[in-house]
Amino acid sequence: MKEIKYRKLRLNNEEETRSLGLEIADALEPGDIVALIGDLGTGKTALTKYIAEGLGIKEEISSPTFTIVKEYKSGRLPLYHFDVYRLGSGEELLDIGAEEMLDGDGACVIEWADIVANVLPADSLIVKLDYGEDMGSRMAELM
Ligand SMILES: Nc1ncnc2c1ncn2[C@@H]1O[C@H](COP(=O)(O)OP(=O)(O)O)[C@@H](O)[C@H]1O
Ligand SMILES: [Mg+2]
Repeated sequence: MKEIKYRKLRLNNEEETRSLGLEIADALEPGDIVALIGDLGTGKTALTKYIAEGLGIKEEISSPTFTIVKEYKSGRLPLYHFDVYRLGSGEELLDIGAEEMLDGDGACVIEWADIVANVLPADSLIVKLDYGEDMGSRMAELM
């Protein structure tokens, strides 16, 4: 991953979430992992859509809750978008054959990444999302 400033920031509206997504997309290199942590509705899928936009992906991004992972190939890098909400552990992620995606030719964005944290590389970019003070705002912590 290219250099990214670790910080806590307030996303005042969805446009600011988009800016963060585009910034993350620019930093991504093959094999990178973005681990998204945050409750339902905090914007994990929204941020993934903007990362995909930044990668130049043309397809519509939809939450892969039932398929666990969806692959998008129309961008600068392949994007593997995971939603591991229905998995119980990192081992289950490996059981479904995710290893070749995790250290593959593309970038992985993983929603509910705390569930599978024990099998993610230490250099994953962790983005913690929280609700902000009003309906349209969120807090993001990059680490
Ligand atoms: N600043 C913001 N950033 C991201 N999403 C926001 C923001 N403000 C409002 N929203 C809305 O919150 C919802 C987030 O949903 P979603 O991305 O599906 O969350 P998650 O994947 O974390 O469950 C969307 O309806 C989105 O439009
Ligand atoms: Mg989601």
